[in-house]
Amino acid sequence: MVELPADPARVELFRRRRFGLFVHFGLYSLAARGEWLRHNERTSDEAYQPYFEHFYPDRYDPRDWIAQAAAAGMRYAVVTTKHHEGFCLWDTRLSDYRVTRTRWGQDIIAPLVAAMRERDFGVGLYHSLIDWHHPQFPLDGLHPLRDDPEARRQERDIGAYRQYLHGQLRELLTRYGRIDQLWLDFSYENHRHEGQLVWGAKGAADWDAAAVHRLARELQPGILLNDRAGLPGDFLTPEQYQPSDPLTRDGRPVLWEACQTLNGSWGYDRDNTDVKSPELLVRMLIDTVSKDGNLLLNVGPTGRGEFDEVASRTLREIGRWMRLHERSIHGAGPSEFVPPPDCRYTQRGDRLYLHLFGWPFDAVHLPGLADRVGYAQFLHDAAEVRREVDDPDQPAYATSAVGQPAGTLTLRLPTRRPEVAVPVIELFLR
Ligand code: GLC
Repeated sequence: MVELPADPARVELFRRRRFGLFVHFGLYSLAARGEWLRHNERTSDEAYQPYFEHFYPDRYDPRDWIAQAAAAGMRYAVVTTKHHEGFCLWDTRLSDYRVTRTRWGQDIIAPLVAAMRERDFGVGLYHSLIDWHHPQFPLDGLHPLRDDPEARRQERDIGAYRQYLHGQLRELLTRYGRIDQLWLDFSYENHRHEGQLVWGAKGAADWDAAAVHRLARELQPGILLNDRAGLPGDFLTPEQYQPSDPLTRDGRPVLWEACQTLNGSWGYDRDNTDVKSPELLVRMLIDTVSKDGNLLLNVGPTGRGEFDEVASRTLREIGRWMRLHERSIHGAGPSEFVPPPDCRYTQRGDRLYLHLFGWPFDAVHLPGLADRVGYAQFLHDAAEVRREVDDPDQPAYATSAVGQPAGTLTLRLPTRRPEVAVPVIELFLR
């Protein structure tokens, strides 16, 4: 078993980067109905082949992807090298089912990693343990050919697939310089899919997860491993939900990274309009940091290799907020103080950041902070926020508000909510 967690300096760097871009790109981007379509539609190899033949992302500009991410305040990216469909986005020697055998003919991964390096982004590689194309990957309840009688009669050798998997990981971890994060996906023993236990489900023994982890640490000593190979990893990966508290293992805090979509789908899903607003995404980012997690926000580029209009606009809007509020996110983490309702605190050193998800009339009351704050200002425009500590015994009478519990600091708010996605008040602690 590999030593957990990874090198403390790399862990700290991961925490400081806080906000990352997840990219799901593959043949499924052309089908434009999510990355699970082969499973959903029980698609045969032949019926899936047109996407391979038509893969031609002529608008692919990795620098533009990373520039958009950077402008949104992101500091790292994790990209799919191969998803469950089995298609390889790099020039692997181990399969012909690869990008350099398509009409497009060029490696996707190498220039993307280069674009990340140019902007000092953390480099993360997603790699699917599941493979619906490899002829030796045994059928199971998730496999597209699960109901195909002929495919079910075939002998398949997981050992041969395992070798392929390890060989591909070796390529990915030796060809592109330093890799910060390996994102393996996923083990599903005892896993319920659509309410049912999956037959033939695979896990740690099938991949030899211990060997995979060892290989990764041997080739990339400081790399951070996720928790989906069937063994504990360096960080947890809550998917499409926001943990209600900081995550722990055996009662101790653990590193975690929430992964979230723009519309519920990872791969490009044209007709899906279930889009999260930029304001909601900003609140999710703040909520994550207040619980000491990272947020990995996904974009599924189109078949032409671009971020669609909704994704670009959403990133721009998040960036508008981040430009003025970055210091409550980067380098910040959870606080010991308990925020008032509908608010989140983050803290970095002697600065406490109050994020107001709602907008109360005139006043917000901060328990326990009466003697602790030397100055307060809005973060977006540095306008002072006036503070007072009221007499706790004050009875309610006419315009005199009833006293707040001893130790409460009251901040006076303007009637109009500032025009930013989430207003933030910066409190200088003393
Ligand atoms: C999943 C899915 C998937 C997606 C991912 C991201 O479990 O199978 O399509 O890539 O995890 O978290």
